[in-house]
Amino acid sequence: MNASIACKNVSKTWPADRDEDQVEALRFVNFDVAPGEFIILLGPSGCGKSTLLYMIAGLEHPTSGSVLAHGTAVDKPDADRILIFQEASLFPWLTVAENVSFGLSLQGASKDERRQKAEELLQEVGLAASADKRPDQLSGGMRQRVAVARALAMRPSILMMDEPFAALDVQTRSKMQGFLQQIWRESGASVVLVTHSIEEAIALADRVVVFTARPGKVKEIVPIDLPRPRNPRDPAFRDLQDHLADLLAEEVDNAFEQQEL
Ligand SMILES: Nc1ncnc2c1ncn2[C@@H]1O[C@H](COP(=O)(O)OP(=O)(O)OP(=O)(O)O)[C@@H](O)[C@H]1O
Ligand SMILES: [Mg+2]
Repeated sequence: MNASIACKNVSKTWPADRDEDQVEALRFVNFDVAPGEFIILLGPSGCGKSTLLYMIAGLEHPTSGSVLAHGTAVDKPDADRILIFQEASLFPWLTVAENVSFGLSLQGASKDERRQKAEELLQEVGLAASADKRPDQLSGGMRQRVAVARALAMRPSILMMDEPFAALDVQTRSKMQGFLQQIWRESGASVVLVTHSIEEAIALADRVVVFTARPGKVKEIVPIDLPRPRNPRDPAFRDLQDHLADLLAEEVDNAFEQQEL
């Protein structure tokens, strides 16, 4: 069976522009994402995690190497691979339900179909009562859930999220993690999520891909073989936490040294 995503020797150098030299963001990155797998990308700031998501999404292209989705080279965005940005960007002038069904309207679905699908999805993310509100009437966590519902409306087989919960308070964040796991199980999609939180990585991932400081290379791929739901007090959870913290600490030091040069 083809991997959902295969990164093969992916390197990316951002070209120089008027005020900046070129930046080598990623070097020879190799890893696969299996169908239905939950992958976390972890690494110091500036190591190229967002750059990699843009390339999987087809919004940017590798300088060398290739990204394959279901065995085919990615060259442009596709509704099968959806990226949710950190600041969920909803359309402020549309209602919650209209935001959720926006992609369906591009596909020519009728008004009734759109409304029905939006209601189903909002039910799934626990926001059925907010269908007719505007995004600015929602909390940050609720807006993120609308963004997830909007992505799910396109039935992607690959869902990417770039630090989706970074702006949320601890309690909301933990609720959102539970919610995401449920959505993930029910949808069967592969998820590739970027976080800076080691605890979040261990709570969610099948495997954690740890990156070096820039240029980002895969430092280690750490499998998380713990039954779900995972308990942070479990000694095996703590051991993984220590291991990932050690890996990351070395690279964060390297990243700081680079930035001072
Ligand atoms: N559009 C762009 N043009 C030029 N350089 C870019 C562009 N996007 C990112 N970079 C550079 O590429 C490097 C990697 O950036 P990227 O945003 O992928 O890192 P990151 O791992 O997501 O960091 P963070 O954890 O801080 O979000 C950085 O040095 C950044 O300045
Ligand atoms: Mg980033």
